[in-house]
Amino acid sequence: MLSQKMIDKINEQIKNELYSGHLYLSMAAYCSSQDLDGFANFFVVQEQEERYHAMKFYHYLVEQGADVKIYGLDQPKQDFKSVEEVFQLAYEHEQKVTGLINDLMELAVQDKDYATQSFLNWYIDEQVEEEASMQSILKKLQMVGVKGHGLLMLDSQLGARSFTPPSKEE
Ligand code: FEO
Repeated sequence: MLSQKMIDKINEQIKNELYSGHLYLSMAAYCSSQDLDGFANFFVVQEQEERYHAMKFYHYLVEQGADVKIYGLDQPKQDFKSVEEVFQLAYEHEQKVTGLINDLMELAVQDKDYATQSFLNWYIDEQVEEEASMQSILKKLQMVGVKGHGLLMLDSQLGARSFTPPSKEE
């Protein structure tokens, strides 16, 4: 059985994950406006991942017999100076999300809530990947610069990304 504090915090985290998707869709739109379709595709796929993260929390609450609450989302940032700025902000955003997942884990430990600790392990691992993916693209952008052949090659690589839902065991 989940504590009420845990239920409230997971409901907040559903909102946070949906907001992440909202922010990444805004970043996708900026990339499209710059004719960087591969970068735009990267963020469209990222939005699908964030929805998956939100729905995984949603189903966990339902499974535990707790009420799901759907909250309104803030307006995401819309004006960006460059794709480099976009990835800098995306990387910082993922670091913030890692902090939120760690807070949830801390509460699960305090509550001696072993089921939620086990459930949250998936997110702990996922956040390592989420941060690494943003940081790796940011570093490449810093190497190639914001114009030219290198940028177009990176754009073409990111255009190949597609959303694959993790298998049930994960
Ligand atoms: Fe849901 Fe990108 O963390």
